[in-house]
Amino acid sequence: MILVTGGAGFIGANFVLNWLASQSEPVVNVDKLTYAGNLNNLASLKGDSRHIFVHADIGDSDTISALLAQHKPRAILHFAAESHVDRSIHGPAAFIETNVNGTFRLLEATRAYWQSLDAEAKQSFRFLHVSTDEVYGSLEADDPPFSETTAYAPNSPYSASKAASDHLVRAYHHTYGMPTLTTNCSNNYGPYHFPEKLIPLVITNARAGKDLPIYGDGSQVRDWLFVSDHCAAIRRVLENGRVGETYNVGGWNEKTNLNVVHTICDLLDELKPKSAGSYRDQIRFVKDRPGHDKRYAIDARKLERELGWKPAETFETGLRKTVEWYLANDVWTDQVLSGEYKNWVELQYQS
Ligand code: NAD
Ligand code: TYD
Repeated sequence: MILVTGGAGFIGANFVLNWLASQSEPVVNVDKLTYAGNLNNLASLKGDSRHIFVHADIGDSDTISALLAQHKPRAILHFAAESHVDRSIHGPAAFIETNVNGTFRLLEATRAYWQSLDAEAKQSFRFLHVSTDEVYGSLEADDPPFSETTAYAPNSPYSASKAASDHLVRAYHHTYGMPTLTTNCSNNYGPYHFPEKLIPLVITNARAGKDLPIYGDGSQVRDWLFVSDHCAAIRRVLENGRVGETYNVGGWNEKTNLNVVHTICDLLDELKPKSAGSYRDQIRFVKDRPGHDKRYAIDARKLERELGWKPAETFETGLRKTVEWYLANDVWTDQVLSGEYKNWVELQYQS
């Protein structure tokens, strides 16, 4: 079996759902259920004995060690993290605690477990660390996209904490020979995306008749990847990636934020028209994010060359699927928008 951390969050839940849809190998899913973790994402697995959910913190070494000894996974896929840049600006401590200290403790528990395995299991074991392109910093308009050899230059507390975790994973391979793999992916979007991030925030605000906040002038560029394409890339790296290597994952879909928001509004105008006017009328330009990275872009050629991975969705097909999913899943959205989420919106979007 495999062990996944953070499998109740956006990408982790998509990964677990896709995994169990296509194979029988069971998944132990360890998640702390922070504000971003949501068991409703996994509701379709209710009663499925191949999914074992464990409510735990990756930093709880005793619990993690006991789980490893009990389930003996052949691989660990590490998704758990604090993941939102704006939250890291308001409160960086949680990012250091989970992304740096938590990853460190998880690596330590994994190292002890891995060293206890017999020679064959030891050789085939993998620790796959899921990371971000944000560790590379920000590009100018004419710069080539980030490759695996681009120097790290993280600019936010979030990206700095992810960079630290990437370095720890690298060191555990280099020093202890642990069979690690790291993926650095661009911005994801798709079903179960928590509506604090740009795409789901704009879809849910638009539907609720609220403002669509664009930081600064909306000219910043992100390279968008549909979440199931990211999950497919992770599976490919897990099975065939070269141990100790890092792989960049991206969609070849560079878009300005303004372009993304316009496209969402146009899709909503088509799929769920308002009685009068366009959703574009709800766009508002708001105060910029401090230290806002201008542009991210990923060169994913290594993954294509070595492992034959390419995204299946274009931005147009993936975004249409995403908008349709949100329109069809009001109950999920309403549940998420209650509670702690309201406090965040008040803190972040007060004028
Ligand atoms: P998310 O915030 O939606 O989910 C994170 C999950 O981790 C939640 O279920 C949360 O409960 C859990 N978690 C947090 N702290 C924990 C802890 N201490 N112990 C156990 N579980 C804990 O994040 P996401 O968008 O799904 O991102 C998943 C991973 O992918 C992260 O490592 C992130 O850095 C990386 N990533 C995200 C993107 C993106 O666009 N979202 C892009 C590239 C890489
Ligand atoms: P986000 O989804 O938070 O991802 P990241 O910061 O990790 O790239 O933001 C994507 C882009 O959208 C980023 O340039 C910031 C911008 N943005 C807005 O303009 N308005 C918003 O309300 C949010 C949440 C983000």
